[in-house]
This record gives sequence, C-alpha cells and structure tokens, in this order.
Amino acid sequence: MSEHDQHPSQPVDDVPQEAWSGVHRGPLRAGEWVRLVDGKGRKHNFALEAGKRFFSNRGHLDHDELIGREEGFTVTTSGGGDYLVFRPLLSEFVVSMPRGAAVIYPKDAAQIVAMADIFPGARVVEAGVGSGALTCSLLRAVGPQGRVSSYERREEFAEVARRNVDQFFSAPEGSSHPAWTLTLGDLAEALPASGERCDRIILDMLAPWECLSAAADALVPGGIVCAYVATTTQLSRFVETVRAHGGFTEPHAWESLVRDWHVEGLAVRPDHKMIGHTAFLVTARRMAPGERPPRKTRRPAPGAYGPDYTGPRPPDVPQEPVAPADE
Ligand SMILES: C[S@@+](CC[C@H](N)C(=O)[O-])C[C@H]1O[C@@H](n2cnc3c(N)ncnc32)[C@H](O)[C@@H]1O
Repeated sequence: MSEHDQHPSQPVDDVPQEAWSGVHRGPLRAGEWVRLVDGKGRKHNFALEAGKRFFSNRGHLDHDELIGREEGFTVTTSGGGDYLVFRPLLSEFVVSMPRGAAVIYPKDAAQIVAMADIFPGARVVEAGVGSGALTCSLLRAVGPQGRVSSYERREEFAEVARRNVDQFFSAPEGSSHPAWTLTLGDLAEALPASGERCDRIILDMLAPWECLSAAADALVPGGIVCAYVATTTQLSRFVETVRAHGGFTEPHAWESLVRDWHVEGLAVRPDHKMIGHTAFLVTARRMAPGERPPRKTRRPAPGAYGPDYTGPRPPDVPQEPVAPADE
C-alpha cells in the first residue's frame, strides 16, 4: 500500500493529520499560513486565500501564484520586490500570531520543554494560557497521546489562545488538538476542583506562589513544577514559597541569554543587538507524600534571612532576633 493510499483524504506527502505536529509538507494550500521575507528581513505572515491579493510597499502579489507550489521559493511582486516564501516554523508562528497577553519567547519555551522534561505522553498543566504560545510547544512535545490542560482566568485571552492554537495545529472547524483542554478559571481554585493529577505544571503568571499549594496537590511524586517570572522580586518570592512548602526539592533558578552571531568572511562577531531580558525560570521536583528533602548542610549567606527579610521562610531557618535600636 502506498503512503497516499494510507491517508486518502490528504495530499500526497503531507504529515499524517493524526500526528498533530502543526507541520505540513507538499504544495501550499489555501487556508495555510505562509511567511514572506524580503531582502531586508521584513516579515509578512498571512493565510492563503484563492483570489486574494497581498500588498506591500513594492506592489502586489496574487495568492494564487503561491497556492500549489512547494514552499522554499522566491516570488516577485508587481513592483519588483523579491520575497522568500516558506510555511512559518513554530518559533516564527508564535512571535507573529495575534496576542492577548505577552507570549513566552521560543528561547524560553525551548528551555521549559527541555528542563521541565516535557515528554511524549506527559500530562501537563499550564496556567495562564495567555496567547497560547507555550501551549503550542507543550502540545507538540506531549503529542496526541499526552495531555495539556491549560487554565486561564481571562475569557478574552482564552479566546485568543484558542484561535492561535487551533490555527497552528490546523484543527478542523469546531475541534482542537486531541490532547488539549482549556478551562476558564483561576488555577488555584479550578485545578483542585478538577481532581486532575499531572506530571508537570508550568506557571506563567504574576503571582505563581498563589498556585503552589494547588500544584503540589496535583503533581505526582517526581513531578516538576516550573515557573516563569519576569522580575527578581517574583523570583525570590516563588523560590522561598517552594522552600517554605517543604514538599519539593531545592528549587533551581536560571535565565537563558541567546546571542546571535554575524558570520561574514573575516567579520565574525556577536550581533550588536540581542534580547537582554525576558524572564527567569525556576524548577523543583515534587517529593513523595510526607517526604521532605534533606536538611541543607550549607548555612544561608549572612543576612540572607536577616531582619530586613520579610518573605516566606524556609522551615529550618529561624527568625533572627531584631537587634535593639541604638540609644
Ligand atoms: C503572560 S500571560 C501567559 C502567556 C502564555 N504563557 C503564552 O506563552 O502565550 C499570563 C496569563 O496568566 C493569566 N493568569 C494569571 N493568574 C492566573 C491564575 N491564577 N489562573 C489562571 N490564569 C492566570 C493571565 O490572565 C494571563 O493571561
């Protein structure tokens, strides 16, 4: 039996729909998104529509000229502008799709998938869904046999996310990726109410410490909680809340900096521009019920939990007596 016979409803060479990868092969079709890039690196993303025209500052281009061709070609507009044509990659789609809330950038999504150990078949909880950027990476990593339960408390963001995720995975009208559920509500209340158990929990929200207790109850022993926070004050509060909870391993906090390079003949050097800051990441593993991580043998740095420290306190770090004020 040929590949075509196995999937008679699909064009030759396409990735089987049941893979839910968001990737298509073969000729470009109406309804698919394409990405046009000009010589200066300017990008235009749009859905192909028979009979429609794309306009740029260098004239126009009929979509019909693109439909039916294999991606990876150059087209010229009526005004002489050359554009490279490809289907957008996941990393390109998420930075160009419509946004409700700020998205997790590909450099951080990649860290989350690797360091929070998202695997095919995993049961993952994420909140908030925001614009659905991380959701696309999570769904791709767990595959159709896994589960991604996304929670979002703002209906308008949930709607944006649903459109983006369905668009990326080319979900047929009225359906979504089979591994995905999207629940409207606050994770701290909706997750316990669901009774859901999971392997991984990703928190991307202003106050992830408010959801730690719900996350701890839902995670299986050995499961991972991962938080993505933009500021050092959030980082500190989340890490200390994890320590104070006592049912997790010592949190690991880090950030990723990606620097592009200019490589041209003898001019080989870092790019002048880079994304200086997105957010910090923290992971910790869930201990088995009733178990505690070993006591730290290293004492906290002097003053780390001194009188000026007002945040959550690790169980084995007593409050330091406040020194009497000088007369
Ligand atoms: C920065 S956005 C998430 C972006 C998303 N990760 C992405 O890559 O597109 C943060 C979202 O968390 C939602 N949120 C904040 N606290 C929440 C909570 N306790 N439960 C559910 N959603 C929450 C906000 O409404 C917002 O949409």
